[in-house]
Amino acid sequence: MTELTHPLATVPQDELVARAEADPLRPRFHFVSPAGWLNDPNGVSHWDGTYHLFYQYNPEGAFHHRIQWGHATSTDLVTWVDQPVALEPSEGPDADGCWSGVLVNDGGTPTLVYSGRAEGKELPCVAVGTPDLLSWTKDPGNPVIGAPPAGVDITAYRDHCVWREGSTWRQLVGSGIRGLGGTAFLYESSDLRSWDYLGPLFIGDASQGDPVDTDWTGTMWECVDLFRAGEGSLGSAPADGAPDVLVFSAWDDGETRHPLYWTGRYSGDTFEPEALHRLDYGGRFFYAPQSFQDESNRRVMFGWMQEGRSDAAMVEAGWSGVMSLPRVTTLAKDGTLEFAPVPEIEKLRRSHVSVPGHVMVAAGTSVETGVSGHQLDLELDMQLAPGAEVRLGVLTSPDGAEETLIVLSRAADGTPSGTLRLDRSRSSLDPDVDGEDKSGPLPMTDGRVHLRVLVDRSAVEIFANGKPLTARVYPTMGGGRVTLAATEGSARLLSFDAWTMAGIFDSTRNLIPEG
Ligand code: FRU
Repeated sequence: MTELTHPLATVPQDELVARAEADPLRPRFHFVSPAGWLNDPNGVSHWDGTYHLFYQYNPEGAFHHRIQWGHATSTDLVTWVDQPVALEPSEGPDADGCWSGVLVNDGGTPTLVYSGRAEGKELPCVAVGTPDLLSWTKDPGNPVIGAPPAGVDITAYRDHCVWREGSTWRQLVGSGIRGLGGTAFLYESSDLRSWDYLGPLFIGDASQGDPVDTDWTGTMWECVDLFRAGEGSLGSAPADGAPDVLVFSAWDDGETRHPLYWTGRYSGDTFEPEALHRLDYGGRFFYAPQSFQDESNRRVMFGWMQEGRSDAAMVEAGWSGVMSLPRVTTLAKDGTLEFAPVPEIEKLRRSHVSVPGHVMVAAGTSVETGVSGHQLDLELDMQLAPGAEVRLGVLTSPDGAEETLIVLSRAADGTPSGTLRLDRSRSSLDPDVDGEDKSGPLPMTDGRVHLRVLVDRSAVEIFANGKPLTARVYPTMGGGRVTLAATEGSARLLSFDAWTMAGIFDSTRNLIPEG
């Protein structure tokens, strides 16, 4: 039995697992930890045909403390097998936690680069794995970088992006420079152990905008992730003109937490930014994303869907944190990123309802969908007239008092722009949960919208014309009706398909036996 070390760790593990499993709000087809706390995806990768998902994990309870690396594997990105914890804090530079990092292939040796936390600070550490990636040995030389760059007044220093460039390794460590903004420090190494500091890749400007703005770049960048959006690898000439993309999670010791990305060009020494974009309109509900290229060259990204309920409610529930479904990232014609859940997810589809299409929905009218459930995959095509507003309601209670509304609208002036909004004001009768509106611009042509909505109890992932909005909701689970109505103007429903979704964990899912 694990030793309980924190004042909040009052519940033995078997009871914690039982509580987590009994919670009707716990998603069933998203990856969740066996019980306790989960945050960032780490070391996401495809290794010898197996997908690996490591994650920030505290099995002791649903609070962030003494973080370990949980580990799960998959052959299809859909169902996951729990594996033994990969990294645990031990005496030395990670005594207080093994924070976020990545997996790289060092000439065939699986190698983790992560942030060891001790004495209130984080420093880069390395661990090597057995060929099955199930057992890990920390490098005796940890931390491999002994201190942040000298002479720079930093706000924080942690999280890693590591890649091979020619004959050397490159690494970014997320940080921020006090009085300026977030940044990532660039390093070079021949052996992943001895690193030369090359300088800041590029420094954000925290004086632009302020913390309430959904695109404020923050005073620190967590979980930086740099990749080429198209053909070719970082540092090489782009064959197709595709940009490089720097994803980061804008952080501030106030409240700011949201993922953003710059498109631009990485030259080998610096990053020349072109444009800044929001990665997910749900902000903190798709936080600390990490991506990898799989063996069929898809860029696949996971993010942490954090909770919107109180700390006390999480502890009581025995679990916290959901991993997003893996989503494929592609470059849209306008130079921004587009996202879609990996198609593999479709194998969880079960009973199918096809709502008759080619129906006009006029203001004040609704469509009888006949769809209902707490685990759903919905796919709709619509065409909105100028000025139209359409609302898709999910997790709607029988009396309609509780409802989560996905609101699509098209500008009245006929310009091709629209808005995607998630109205959570009536998602839950519980007044203590986060019910803030989330929204962002919805690109459209002739008012056409392709909408995909994945509902998994308290986890909702929305993709509208490739723009994602991810969030958490806490309905009392009385009902799961799906409603569709127009509130302004009119829209043509072209097609509407709905499937119930099977769960991915059966009753045999349990903590890995110790030893
Ligand atoms: C992001 C983050 C990382 C850190 C980890 C700690 O959510 O704060 O910056 O490495 O979580 O769990």
